[in-house]
Parts: sequence; structure tokens; C-alpha cells
Amino acid sequence: MTSAKQTISPVRVVKKNGIRVEVYEDAEAVSAAAAAMIAGRITASSKFNLGLATGSTPIKTYDELVRIHEAGELTFSHVTSFNLDEYVNLPPTHDQSYRYFMMKHLLDRVDIPLYNTFVLNGQAVDVDAECSAFEGLIKARGGVDLWLLGIGGNGHIGFNEPGSAVDSRTRVVTLDDCTRADNARFFATLDDVPTHAVSAGVQTITDSHAVLLLATGAGKANAVAAAVAGDCSVDCPASLLQGHDDTTFMVDVQAAKML
Ligand code: F6R
Repeated sequence: MTSAKQTISPVRVVKKNGIRVEVYEDAEAVSAAAAAMIAGRITASSKFNLGLATGSTPIKTYDELVRIHEAGELTFSHVTSFNLDEYVNLPPTHDQSYRYFMMKHLLDRVDIPLYNTFVLNGQAVDVDAECSAFEGLIKARGGVDLWLLGIGGNGHIGFNEPGSAVDSRTRVVTLDDCTRADNARFFATLDDVPTHAVSAGVQTITDSHAVLLLATGAGKANAVAAAVAGDCSVDCPASLLQGHDDTTFMVDVQAAKML
């Protein structure tokens, strides 16, 4: 592993449709570069609002942020976090809930004040009110400075599945069959995968001052190519980032192979 101060260089940089794509040798290098960027921005600011994602892809980035924190080179004391999404009807103590994931991989391992960590409550009695409150909170805190994203094989960002409107906001969404099938690996059976989630909308994400999307592995190659080089279309929600003026993709060679 690298020191927090060491620079990881991409093997290739592609700029297309307003998106900067940094291609790294492998997933380790992507994680190191992503953590270095996030740590740098947090450190450069006296108050930082960080958007977070769950999923397999950012786990190594979170490990690296924890390592930099433990090395005494990064504090989260002035950071507020907002998570993209949460399953509907899973309690936060369920080991597949996104609150549980975030506590395990990052929030419990750094010095972020827990009262400044926001994950949507998928068990809220009034889920629509929960979604509006989340939007209101982001606004009241001054907007998200940097939103870290993964990408689904179908191009989804957050749980904004294909067809999600460019001006969508935080809301209840129905998960695509392919997304449920992708996530079934984390549950005992496919039937156990929730059918609904609450998710920040496309507009909630594109309102962020900066966006950093990570993708690793050949399974993401089509989605990355469609997002960067395809039409800006709701058919590939990640392509809607083409209209954003500070979006970086950090991907490995495998995920970049169709670019
Ligand atoms: C996670 C999320 C999803 C994932 C995407 C990729 O909070 O909103 O959009 O980022 O499904 O997941 P992984 O990284 O598991 O391939």
C-alpha cells in the first residue's frame, strides 16, 4: 500500500463528453487514487459534505481512507456524510442494510461524528417524508461537495435504474430484476433481496459540486463505455453525468476495455 502522500498515476486518461476517465492498472490502484483524492479534498476544506456509496467497488477505497486516518494524516471531524440509498424494510442492524455496511467499512472506523452521518431510513413510517427530509438536509448543509459512486452493470447510479429522469430526486424506487439478481449474492436467496429501495435521485447526485465514479472489472466495461461514449440518455443513468461539469471516473484497465 502507498503512503497518503504518494501520487498514483493513471496509465491512461480519456476525456469524452465532459467526463474525465482515469484508467489505472488494477482495482488496488483505483482505490489508492480515489482515497488520495477524497482525503485531499477533505483536508483542504474546513467543512466537507461527502456523498457515499455502498457495494463491492468502494470497499478498498474505504479501507485506504481508514489507513490514512490511522496514520494520523486525515481527520473526518469536520465531515458530514450522505449515503446514496438504502433498502426499504431492512432494519439498520440487518447485515445487508446499507447503514450496517457503512458503519462496518468506514463510519465506525474513523472520527466522523455519528450525528453527522445520514443514511436514509428504509423503515420510515412515511417514506416520502423521509425522502424530502433527506433532500432538505443536503440543502441546509450547503450541498454535497463530492459524491462517490459505483455503477451498475445496467448503468445505474445509486438505485436510479434505466429510465430514471434527469430531474429525479430522492424517492422510493423499484429495483430492476437484474439489480436484484446482481445483489442476490449477498442474501440467502433471490427472494430475500428487497424489491424496493429509497435512493437519491439523478438530480440529487448531479447537484453535487463534484462526482467521483469508480468501476473495476470487465463486468463494468459495457456500462462504463455507454456512460462515457454513448448518448446522454436515461437508458444509461450514468451517462446523465455527461452534463455535469466536475465528474471523474476512476476505472481499472478491465473496466476501460470498451473505451
Ligand atoms: C450502492 C449503489 C449502487 C452500486 C452499484 C455497483 O450504494 O448505489 O449503485 O454502486 O450497484 O455495485 P458494486 O460496487 O457492488 O458493483
